[in-house]
Amino acid sequence: MRKKIVAGNWKMNTTVPEGIELAKAVAEKSAQLPANVGLVVAPPFTHLAAVAEAIKGSRVELSAQNCADHEKGAYTGEVSVAMLKSVCCQWTILGHSERRQYYGETDGKLVEKVKLALSAGLGVILCVGENLDEREAGKHFDVVAGQIKNVLYNFSAEDMKSIVVAYEPVWAIGTGKTATAEQAEEIHACIRSVLADKFGREVAEDTTILYGGSCKPSNARELFAQPDIDGGLIGGAALKADDFIQIALSF
Ligand code: 13P
Repeated sequence: MRKKIVAGNWKMNTTVPEGIELAKAVAEKSAQLPANVGLVVAPPFTHLAAVAEAIKGSRVELSAQNCADHEKGAYTGEVSVAMLKSVCCQWTILGHSERRQYYGETDGKLVEKVKLALSAGLGVILCVGENLDEREAGKHFDVVAGQIKNVLYNFSAEDMKSIVVAYEPVWAIGTGKTATAEQAEEIHACIRSVLADKFGREVAEDTTILYGGSCKPSNARELFAQPDIDGGLIGGAALKADDFIQIALSF
């Protein structure tokens, strides 16, 4: 049985004290969740050590939002996977559309980042998704399948045990415009079949695939009821502990 996960991507929000408060509230409320639901928070780099302390002893796991594409050295402003491990990070998000769009993150660079993350023992939440033009041109299946192939086809079935995929249609991020459950499900099913083509049905069936894009307490239940949607990567609604927990209670 693949794992259900709800992950909160805080993006560039909260100061460190605010982040500690939010993390503590999430950790406290997480006790009410069923055992088969994993909960992850992804605060900014500056918060990681303090948030690790705030969630200690709870079921909440810690993720970064990105990592460097080099192991170490003269890369001013970058944060390495070893640094993430040293503050007890268990995961990193990679390939978020905001990184692809604003910071020139390419599939090629992502291959390097995924390699480094896995070699450090970090789990990876790999984001994929089409933009509005691509959807309107009917290219969404091809775009998402292409991203999956370009990055994940460089890895093994064994590596896939540490990789979660997050489908985030760019037009649904922060816009209040959620993909319908049917739109999300058909892409999730497509992602699973693209994974099955390379790694076999069993690995594809065991891979957790999250939906992200204006997911909130009012629409999470319908989304999570779809057979290929295994949870969510939550932006705005992850900044309120009650909403975040409510979403995680929606399976
Ligand atoms: P919103 O939930 O704010 O739309 O953001 C989704 C997202 O980008 C999570 O990574």
